[in-house]
Amino acid sequence: MSSTWWRDAVIYQVYVRSFADSNGDGTGDLPGVVSKLDYLEELGVDALWLTPFFPSPQADGGYDVSDYRDVDPMYGSLDDFRTLLDEAHARRIRIIVDIVPNHCSDAHPDFQAALAAAPGSPERDRFIFRDGLGEHGELPPSDWQSKFGGPAWDRVPDGQWYMHIFSREQPDFNWRNPAVREDFDRTLRFWSDLGVDGFRIDVAHGLMKDLEAPLRNTCGADNAPLLSPPEGDNHPFWDRDEVHEVYREWRKVLDEYDPPRLAVAEAGVSLDRLPLYVRQDELDQAFNFFYLRCPWQADEFRRVIDSALAGVASVGASTSWVLSNHDVVRHRTRYGLPNGTDPVKWLAGNGTEPPADDALGEKRARASVLLTLALPGAAYLYQGEELGLPEVPDLPAEALRDPIYERTGGREKGRDGCRVPLPWNADEPAFGFGAGTPWLPQPQGWGRYAASEQEGDEGSFLALYRRAVRARRQLLALAPGDGIEWINAGCDVLAFRRGPLQCMLNFGPTPVPVPAGRVLLSSTGGEPQELGADESVWVLA
Ligand code: NOJ
Repeated sequence: MSSTWWRDAVIYQVYVRSFADSNGDGTGDLPGVVSKLDYLEELGVDALWLTPFFPSPQADGGYDVSDYRDVDPMYGSLDDFRTLLDEAHARRIRIIVDIVPNHCSDAHPDFQAALAAAPGSPERDRFIFRDGLGEHGELPPSDWQSKFGGPAWDRVPDGQWYMHIFSREQPDFNWRNPAVREDFDRTLRFWSDLGVDGFRIDVAHGLMKDLEAPLRNTCGADNAPLLSPPEGDNHPFWDRDEVHEVYREWRKVLDEYDPPRLAVAEAGVSLDRLPLYVRQDELDQAFNFFYLRCPWQADEFRRVIDSALAGVASVGASTSWVLSNHDVVRHRTRYGLPNGTDPVKWLAGNGTEPPADDALGEKRARASVLLTLALPGAAYLYQGEELGLPEVPDLPAEALRDPIYERTGGREKGRDGCRVPLPWNADEPAFGFGAGTPWLPQPQGWGRYAASEQEGDEGSFLALYRRAVRARRQLLALAPGDGIEWINAGCDVLAFRRGPLQCMLNFGPTPVPVPAGRVLLSSTGGEPQELGADESVWVLA
C-alpha cells in the first residue's frame, strides 16, 4: 500500500447524519454507510472522510464531542465502525475520521469536572477559564467573538467565564496544558490502532491562544464569516505560530503506523501561511478553500491554482481541491448566483434575491468537476455533488438545527441547506434515505436527483462523475507528478496540459475550438468540436 496514497486521491466526504439511515430513526448512521459502499466503489473514490460520529449532544452536528473514543448510539456502535472499516478496506476504500481538537462538548466529562471544580484548579486548566472584567467581573474577559455569533465567553455560576470560539456548548481546550495533548495522542492512537487511514483536523489553526494577561482585544476583527482568512499572523487565537508545535508532535504519532496515517487540516488561513501546516514534519494536506470561494472567472481560477501549486511545492506537499462541503452553500447553487453575491446573505433571504439561475449553476457545476479532477493533488467531493444536488435555501425556520441560526438571532440561516438527507430512490419513502422522517425535511421534487433516476442515464451528473473519477485514475498512471503546463487559449479560457491530457474550460461567452486529439469526456456529453460558455472538455493528445 503506498504511503502517500492521499497525494492525488479522490476523497468523498460522508456527512454521516444525512447519508443513509439504516434503522428508520430519521438519522443517517454507520450501517447506512456500509449499505452504500458498492455505490461508492462504483463511483471510484479512494477514501471516505466521515464527519464526526462520536458521542455528542449534537449542539453543532457532532462537532461537539463528549467522548472522542466511541460511537454515538444514534450512529451505531464501535462494532458497526469495525464492520465499516473492514467492508471499505475490502473494496480498497480508505477511511478518514474527523478529529475535533479545538473544543469539546460541554457534556464532556472533563468539562463537567471543570465546572464542578474551583477556579484555578487543574480541572479548569484544561479549558480557558478567566475572571471577568468590570467591578464585579460581570463583563467578559475580552471582546473575542464567537464564529457563530455573539461573545466567545459564557459565565458560569461562580462568576468565572469560559471561552468558546463556536457555540456555548463547545468549550475550547487549553492546548498549553500537557494533559490535553496527551489525551489527544491517545485518541489518535485509538483510531489508528483500529485501522483508520487518516484524520481530518477540525479548526486546525485555532488550537493555540495568546493567554497572556491582560487578554488582547481583537476590536471586531473576528466577525468575519466562517472560513474567512484571519487577520494577520499575530491574532490572539487564529493561526498562531505555536500551533505548529502540536502538529510536529502529531506527526510522530501518525508515523508510528505503517503506512503513516494521513492528516488533513481544516485551516482557514491566508494562502501564504497554509503551506506551513503541510511541512514535512507536520500534517500532510490542507483544504484549499480559496478554490471553493473563487469567483467564476478564468484569471481568478488560474491565480488560485498557481498559488496553491506553488505553495505546496515550496514544502514538498500536495494540494487539495474542494468545491463544496457541509459548511457552505452547494456549488451548483453558488455558481448560479451573479458574481459577487455573498451566499450567506443570499441564504438569509431564503434564496430569493437575486434569484439563482439553476440551469447556469448546473452547467458550471458539470464543467467544474472536469477541472477539479484534472488538477494535480487530492480532490475532495462532498456527498450529493455527484448527483448534482442544489442547496435547499428555504427550509422552514422551525426545521433549522444549525446553531448559527439561533446565535445570530436569525440574521443568518446557517448551514442546514447543504445538509439535507440524500435522495437515493425516487419511489421510496424519504426518497430512499430511510424509513423514518428525515431529521431535516427534503423538498418536494427531491426525488428527481435520486441516484435511482440517474442510474443508466449516460447524460446524468452521476455518469459524468463516474467516468471522470475512473478516467482520472488511468491518467494518473500516465501522468504522475504535480505539474501542469498552461496553454494560452484566450483570456476567458483555462487550458492546461497534464501528461497526455488537455483540460479546457471556457468561462467566456464566445465559443472556442476544442484542441486536436481524442475527446475523452466533455461536461455536456458527446464529443464537441467547440466549447460554449461554461463548458469543459478532456482531450487526449
Ligand atoms: C468546522 C466544521 O466543518 C464545522 O461544521 C463546525 O461547525 C466547526 N468547525 C466547529 O467545529
